[in-house]
Amino acid sequence: MNIIKTLLVLAIIAVIGAGTMIYSGIVNVAADEPHSAMVYWMLEQTRENSIAKASKDIKVPNLEDADLLLSGGADYNFMCASCHLQPGQKESDMSVGLYPSPPNFAVENDEHSHESNNNEDKSAEAKKHFWVIKHGIKASGMPAWGKTHDDKRIWAMVAFIQKLPELTPEQYQILTAVE
Ligand code: HEC
Repeated sequence: MNIIKTLLVLAIIAVIGAGTMIYSGIVNVAADEPHSAMVYWMLEQTRENSIAKASKDIKVPNLEDADLLLSGGADYNFMCASCHLQPGQKESDMSVGLYPSPPNFAVENDEHSHESNNNEDKSAEAKKHFWVIKHGIKASGMPAWGKTHDDKRIWAMVAFIQKLPELTPEQYQILTAVE
């Protein structure tokens, strides 16, 4: 009986706590005010595990295909570079102002991307990238491009992002030029 009472009290406290958080306005949603380390860790783990689970059965096409690679550049430059940057660029208004901040795809080993030469890791990363580009990430600046773009165009951007850290600013200009 005592256990039931204790659980009931705990449940009431939890409901009051959640209610206070939701209705009092004490939670700061400002993007220029970082999460506490614990909240950041919780959100990051939730995001990483969610994306890994949702993307694990995706079949990766040949990302070295020249047509695919060449067609991804213009889309990337037009739709993604404002947030995810390009070779030679250190920051943009978007990359500085957004929280969580968009990973910089123009450099190797950004904190978000766990790049490695291991093929299995590369394929897992391609699956995750494809899934994120298609579905977006809730409550972040990352849009779901799958609503307006087919899978082939999304794979082309996945292929382009893989090559991006190796490109010089000049090569980037050539590969992103719209014919
Ligand atoms: C308005 C800014 C914005 C634009 C435009 C944008 N993104 Fe993002 N993107 C983000 C943010 C912010 C994140 C990080 C979200 C997070 O950490 O929860 C993100 C995350 C990602 C990730 C996941 C990276 C990882 O390893 O976790 C991929 C892949 C990605 N974006 C690709 C793209 C592509 C491709 C485009 C263009 C079609 C694009 N993004 C356009 C803001 C943007």
